[in-house]
Formats: sequence, structure tokens, C-alpha cells
Amino acid sequence: MTSHSADTSQSGSIDHVLHERRLFPPSAEFTKNARISSVQQYEDMVAAARDTRDDFWRKEALEHLHWFEPFGDVCQWEAPHAKWFVGGKTNACYNCVDAHVAAGRGDKLAIIWEGEPGDQRKLTYRDLQIEVAKCAEAFAQLGVGQGDVVSIYMPMTPELAIAMLACARIGAIHSVIFAGFSAESIADRNNDASAKLMITSDGLYRRGKVLPLKETVDEALAKSTSVEKCLVLRRTGGEVPMTEGRDVWWHDVVDTQPGELAAVPLDSETPLFILYTSGSTGKPKGILHTTAGYNLWARRTFEWVFDYRDDDIYWCTADCGWITGHSYIVYGPMTAGATCMMYEGAPNHPAEDRFWDLVERHKVTVLYTAPTAVRAFIKWGDEHVDKHDLSSLRLLGSVGEGINPEAWMWYHSKIGGGRCPIVDTWWQTETGGIMMSPLPGITPTKPGSCTKPLPGVIPNIVDELGNEVDSEHGGKLCISEPWPGMLRGIWGDPERFVEQYFSDVPGQYLTGDNARCDRDGYYWIMGRIDDVINVSGHRLSTIEVESALVSHPHVCEAAVVGRPDDLKGQAIAAFITTTGRDTDDEFLKELKMHVRKQIGALAQPDDIRVTAALPKTRSGKIMRRLLRDVAAGRELVGDTSTLEDLASISQLQESE
Ligand code: WT7
Repeated sequence: MTSHSADTSQSGSIDHVLHERRLFPPSAEFTKNARISSVQQYEDMVAAARDTRDDFWRKEALEHLHWFEPFGDVCQWEAPHAKWFVGGKTNACYNCVDAHVAAGRGDKLAIIWEGEPGDQRKLTYRDLQIEVAKCAEAFAQLGVGQGDVVSIYMPMTPELAIAMLACARIGAIHSVIFAGFSAESIADRNNDASAKLMITSDGLYRRGKVLPLKETVDEALAKSTSVEKCLVLRRTGGEVPMTEGRDVWWHDVVDTQPGELAAVPLDSETPLFILYTSGSTGKPKGILHTTAGYNLWARRTFEWVFDYRDDDIYWCTADCGWITGHSYIVYGPMTAGATCMMYEGAPNHPAEDRFWDLVERHKVTVLYTAPTAVRAFIKWGDEHVDKHDLSSLRLLGSVGEGINPEAWMWYHSKIGGGRCPIVDTWWQTETGGIMMSPLPGITPTKPGSCTKPLPGVIPNIVDELGNEVDSEHGGKLCISEPWPGMLRGIWGDPERFVEQYFSDVPGQYLTGDNARCDRDGYYWIMGRIDDVINVSGHRLSTIEVESALVSHPHVCEAAVVGRPDDLKGQAIAAFITTTGRDTDDEFLKELKMHVRKQIGALAQPDDIRVTAALPKTRSGKIMRRLLRDVAAGRELVGDTSTLEDLASISQLQESE
């Protein structure tokens, strides 16, 4: 396996992490007011969730979700198939919205939104209830009902959250597609999920420019076989062609509804959403989450990890196109009744202090962002931070990749003023919510470690053969028991679900990450075991990018690897062989655009190197490990200026 070179390329400073000894205990001040305020309290929860799992989660579900009809069994587990809160009826939209109105909290702000150009909107939970009901009513008019899939390709506007919740309200299944993906990617996802309705906007603002979303969607819909209608939000106001009989404006069909439709009681295991993510093959998989278990997991992990308080102004800077936005902008915080900031645009528009300006003006108390953003802020310079009063902040979160100790220290001192605990949250699209994280009132943190599992999470570290290993040494990270927020399947591919996640160690969920656990029981994520790379906290399959490259008529073969990058964590390096066409800069530019068009901007290779041959083993496997070293500029013996030399080196190495 090539896991070790993956490790180094993932963090770029793995030695540093391994030798990390600093310990930052929470302040007495923070602990005093924290939701979970003693180690004993945490250990009792962990023990209860482990030893009396069903009792623990029964109580949690009864207290923290609304039930139209009670459930029977708490968990039916026939690995790898789980059912939680069996036979009960609830509704995630009701839990996120109506429950607060019903409890007399309708006037509380649900969303404080700011668009990139500076426009602002505030929606209370009551406002949200009306908007969501209107949107659900429009769905009915557009022929969308329970079990139908709705693709959402939108900017970060309140309507994005409203559309998601409107699906949940009637039992339609949303599939949010990040608004940076290409027409090809949208069409693939639409077709894989048999989406019936597509929701988009005319355009979106990014760094002062308008990106023509509807144009991309039109191109995608030409290749989408199942989509019948397209609902279009006017956001940027540009001219967009509307296809007669297919396209309708949001302001025509949503805003004109009465806004009275009630949430439909739904079985606990009703599919809530599909979210596509990259695996180790070329085809993204539609991760399926269902209603009750996911909803409960999102809520409780939100409350525990972010030490949620009623007066918090909470801001997760993710996009709803990723799982972080699903769980920690919409379902977690809203079920808890939190006030969420939502921001549409880039962190450096109009200037590099936009985030800090937002924090100051809206008095954000809890900030959840990604290491790649933190590294960009460091690069942009402290002066952008120094201009602003960040004293409202009390807690900081990190997600997407491990946060390297340097970035951790800067985040801690510069943004957190040395007083805010940092929660480094490890989880995945598949896990539905946070799995390991410090609890800010009690866990002394070590920069670079996601510390300990949350109650109900039972990690297990195994070797290549699936045997338990000395966890200090490290190995593949599995989760050995079911938890409410776990994925329920891969859309349309039950075999891949079993094979991918539950066959290495039968009955245990294989995360795809390597990890080790130190003497204090702290976990350190060591990077992926598969061909998945992590670019700016986003998952990409190297094979996906390779497929895009070879779909160009002049590319014969392609090998893609991640290489360490100061800002992105990993950058994409591609090695290709060609049909012999002129391989000048123009051609390389054309290729980059080609990948952009096939997948989206986030998959565009940072460098492409043309070579006469790719280094392969005798059995014909591309030696990615070697290419990783080349891409990272690591020392190889011999002349490494061309890959022809490398090919011969690899053959030599192999025959040794
Ligand atoms: C993969 C999951 C979790 C939501 C965003 C990404 C890596 C994520 C951490 C962390 C080390 C992390 C893992 C994981 N990852 N958070 N705190 N420390 N690694 O979700 O796209 O499903 O990616 O991101 O490799 O498997 P995702």
C-alpha cells in the first residue's frame, strides 16, 4: 500500500505532527459555562452510549426530535444495514423550523444572510416556515412529491436552505450539487439519481463577477434524461433564456403560494438526501442519508461540539454543496434553533478582511471553517485581521482536513485571541456528522489531533488483513458499531455500498482513512488509504481526474497524484502521454480547461507534465508512489529531469 507517502503529501508536515507535544487545556472560564463541563459527564455519556446503546439513543431521540408517531425499536442492525427509530414518524423540516414556531420561538432569527455585493437579509424561524411552505407548495404544482429527487445547483442564498428544507417537508429527496461543478457533472448526477426537478439561479456572484449558472444548467439539462422542470431563482438579474414548458421563475411559482402547507409525517428511514462524493473509482457515489437518525446526529453533535447556547451567532463558512453545509448550516443548527450566519461569496471580496468584517459586524460567537481558509488568511497577512474587533468569538472549529500545527497556532492566537478553544472535527460525508472532536469545555487539545470519539462512536484501528493492531502504531480506521447518522447506502448501487465500506472488516464501517491513537487516547488522522486526494478540504478521486484527461482526443494515458501544497493541502499533479501533438503551453492550458469542463474548477490540475511513458510495474500498474515523489520534488536517485528516466528507475527498483 502507498499509505505512507500519502501521509506526507497530505499534511506536508507529518513529522511535525508526530512530534507535537503541546497541550492546550480549556480555560476555567469556558469550562464553567460549558454544556459538557466535566470529564466525568463525557465518560458517563460514552459508557451509556456503548453499554446501553438503545436506551441512550431512545432518550436522545425522544428529547431532541419531534415525533408524530412513536418509534418501536431504537436500532435494528444487520450489518451493514441499519434502521434507527423503527416505525416512528417525524419530519426533519418540522424539527428545523415548525418546532421552534410551535414552541413560541418563531421570532428568533434563523438566518442572517449576507450576499457578496453586501446585500443583507434576516429571516426569523417564522419567516422561514412560511418560505419553506411556499416552496413545498410550488413543488406540488411542479409535480414533485414524496420520493422524487430534486437537484439543487444554487448560490449560497437563503433559498438554497429553503429548497432543501422544502424537500424535507414533503419527503422529496434533495441532491445538492456544488455550484462549481460542470454541466457534465450535473448531468451525471441528475441521471444517476433520476432527478425530476432541477433548481438553480440565473447566476451567482463570485469575486465581483457573475457566473452564469443557468447557462451551465441548460447544458446539463440537454443531457439529463429525467428532469422535467427547472425552477430558477433570480439572483444576479442577468438575461437568461427560459425554455417554454420546462423553466419557471421562483418569483412566479414560489412567492405566489399561500405558505400554509404543513410538514408531512414521514417514516424515520425515509430518504432525506443524496450527496455525491468521490471514492476510489472514477464515478462519484451518491451517499444516502435518511431522516430521523441523521437529523438527531446532526443536532446533537452540533450542540455538543459547538457548545451551543441560545444567544450564539453561529457561522459555518462551508457551502451547502458539501456535507458540512448540510449538517452544520442547515440540519444541525436549525434543529437546535440556532441563529446561523450565511455568506454568499468569496473570503477576499471586496478585500481580504471580508470574513473578519462579517464577524465584527454580526458579532459572530462561533466560527467553523477549514484549514485551507486559515492558511490563505495567514498568507494574506495579519493586517486584515488586525483591523477588526473579533472579541465576540468564543469558539473556533476546523473541518475538511487535519489542521497543521502552524495554522492551528495562528487560528488560536490571531483569530481566537488565545481565549477560544479550537475544535478540530474529523468526519466524512458518509458519517453524516462529526465523529471525533474535542469537546470544548473539557478536552485539552493537541494541535493536529481531532482528539477523541463522540459518544456512540467506537473507533477501531486494523492492519491490512483487518486484524486489530497496536493503535499507537496506526492502521486503517474503522468504526465498529452503528451510529444514528451513518450512511444508509449508495444510491442505486447496493453492492458497491457493501464492498466499499463493509467488506475489509466484515460488519465494521471502513472509513478510508489511516489513523493512529496515542497513549492518551487521542486520534491522529494520517491521510487516505485509497486514491482519494484532498484539495482544499474537498474530496477528489485521482481516477476521476485521469478519466477526464484521457477523454481529451490527444491524451493517451494519464496518472494523477496529489502533491503537498501550502494553501490547498494537496494540489493536483498530472502526468500524461500524448498522441504526439505539440505539447506547448497552449495545449496544457487547453487540457486544464478540458478537465474544468468535464468535472469543474476544483478538479483542474495545478501542473501537467507530458512524458514519453508512465512508470509502471511489470503487471502494468502505474507507480503512483513514485509519481507522488516526483510531483512533490522529493529526491530520487539519478537524473529525474524526465520521466523516461523515471520509468527506467522504476523498472530498476522493481527488479531489485
Ligand atoms: C475526508 C472526508 C467532514 C466534512 C468535510 C469533508 C478528511 C475531514 C478531517 C480532520 C483530518 C479530515 C478525511 C476524511 N478529513 N476532516 N478534521 N482531520 N482529516 O468531507 O468530503 O466526505 O471528506 O476528509 O480524509 O476521510 P468529505
